[in-house]
Amino acid sequence: MSVFKSISLVLFFLLVSGCGDSKKPEQKSIYKRVKTEKRQVKEANSVTPVDLNNKGIGPIKNYSFSSEINMELASEGKQVFNSKCTACHNVNRRLIGPAMTGIYERRSVEWVLNIMLNPDQMLKEDPVAIALLKEYNNILMLNQNLTEQEAKSLAEYFRTL
Ligand code: HEC
Repeated sequence: MSVFKSISLVLFFLLVSGCGDSKKPEQKSIYKRVKTEKRQVKEANSVTPVDLNNKGIGPIKNYSFSSEINMELASEGKQVFNSKCTACHNVNRRLIGPAMTGIYERRSVEWVLNIMLNPDQMLKEDPVAIALLKEYNNILMLNQNLTEQEAKSLAEYFRTL
């Protein structure tokens, strides 16, 4: 191989790799953008942890449902829900606060009662409630000053959803 040939080969490779380099910044920025978008989607879908053993903090230490749904109590709960909760909650769709369907698949009944009766302390001290608050953009679940009877009727109503 002549010296000229090998020099031109080296130049050729330099040129090719040079071209490669000139493409890289663009590729990099697309890659970066996709990565950021992926991260944003992940954050939007982030879910508060599920811990069915967590009973929350508040007046309800232990509560168990009767085996059959008490329909009378549940309909009381439905009325309370429609008058005091629908400003922020929809039963089966995320609104300002979470949907209520399937609540017992993610929370214990005691936790549900305690967040209704004692939201202020729960949002400060309970790890699940704190995560939920973050997920819901720091919007505070208001204390509706429910009686225990009202809270229990709501809890019964949620069984029917
Ligand atoms: C001012 C709006 C607002 C009102 C009114 C309100 N809530 Fe909430 N609620 C929220 C928000 C927001 C959250 C999520 C936690 C947070 O960000 O504070 C929440 C969380 C909850 C949770 C926990 C849901 C889950 O997925 O773990 C329950 C149960 C609940 N609310 C029940 C009720 C009931 C029952 C009422 C009516 C008595 C009510 N809320 C009234 C805003 C509200």
